[in-house]
Amino acid sequence: MDTPFRKHVLLAICGGIAAYKSAELVRLLRKQGCEVRVVMTRSAREFVNPLTFQALSGNPVHTELLDVDEENAMGHINLARWADVVVIAPTTANTLAKCAHGLADDLVTTLFLAATCPVYMAPAMNQAMWNKAITQENIRKLENYGVNFIGPGSGDQACGEIGKGRMAEPAEICQRLLAEPRMTVLQSVKVLVSAGPTREYIASVRYITNRSSGKMGYALARAALQAGAQVSLVSGPVNLSSPAGLDIVNVETASQMYDAVLTRAVNADIYIGAAAVADYRPIAMEKDKIKKQADQTNLVLHKTKDILTDVARLNNAPFTVGFAAETNDLEVYAQEKLRKKNLDMIAANWVGQEQGGFDSEQNALEVFWDQGHASLAMTDKNQLAEQLINLIATRFNEKNRS
Ligand code: C5P
Repeated sequence: MDTPFRKHVLLAICGGIAAYKSAELVRLLRKQGCEVRVVMTRSAREFVNPLTFQALSGNPVHTELLDVDEENAMGHINLARWADVVVIAPTTANTLAKCAHGLADDLVTTLFLAATCPVYMAPAMNQAMWNKAITQENIRKLENYGVNFIGPGSGDQACGEIGKGRMAEPAEICQRLLAEPRMTVLQSVKVLVSAGPTREYIASVRYITNRSSGKMGYALARAALQAGAQVSLVSGPVNLSSPAGLDIVNVETASQMYDAVLTRAVNADIYIGAAAVADYRPIAMEKDKIKKQADQTNLVLHKTKDILTDVARLNNAPFTVGFAAETNDLEVYAQEKLRKKNLDMIAANWVGQEQGGFDSEQNALEVFWDQGHASLAMTDKNQLAEQLINLIATRFNEKNRS
């Protein structure tokens, strides 16, 4: 399975006893799928050996402003550009003061000046140093410049005193960083989702439809919202309440869904076609109820326009994801649809079997893209949607970066 899209955290460590807690922070961030690069001041290296952070982050540790070591060759400007978020933990009173005054005499303070992404500081110092008016003034100044502070907490201090100045716990720092909007995998990406069945009218009182509940599409819309996306949902008739915070368009027929999707797809970055669109519709809708007459009757059906194919054909087409519900030869049909409809990704599931699929709370998916495949095991549709959104974000961001 492909590596999930990783958010880039630049962790700067200053010289304080709390530096040992930063090792746990690196571990937690990596567990959450972040890529972490560590920068240490000279005094931080007196407390913890850089090797600890190299081993935990899987990357060489940066220590010098002018780094001649080839392995560490990413210069300070590139490091600052690389970061989605910078966190200085622990931030000492000294680094805090230097940053507040725009000094840049080492790698950490230079990175602070060069960073254009959000910056977080987790101060750690003796309670008297923390309470000193000049420190408080520096903090206010940095807050006014947009720096986000995490902690400090109160309690026993390494110096034997009791008071405010303990670095926030790694779990709290990790949580705050992950809540940063820049850290969400689809921040500001425009996602369009279609969901539910369509109704194809035979007459005003009768229609052809299918068993789609819309649950998967709605779960995908919700997961995309949680990942920071701006979401539009084009929905066929379902019995579900619409997630708050998205733009919803209710439609009934395949033709209405076609129009609603195509007009919005031109402005979308990602289109996820999770709707079970009818493949055929009656040629014309009878105005009145068709009366019972002959023992047999014929219904002439016309093929509907394929929404997915036409979205993928647009100039500047969004990243297009289709679904395939199959009763046999799942991989063969899914790969064929991926190619024929010119999709970026297809999520295939078995239907007509005991497990998952239509109208069920659970599902499992086989996901295919050009030269790649992932199996998402049977689970609750909300969890499955989160996993699929993560996969889509990974492929979408890779495509955009290449
Ligand atoms: O070819 P098939 O209908 O099995 O493909 C399913 C995929 O195509 C789904 O993503 C569905 O939303 C989409 N589709 C469509 N327009 C149609 C029929 C299917 O977008 N008319």
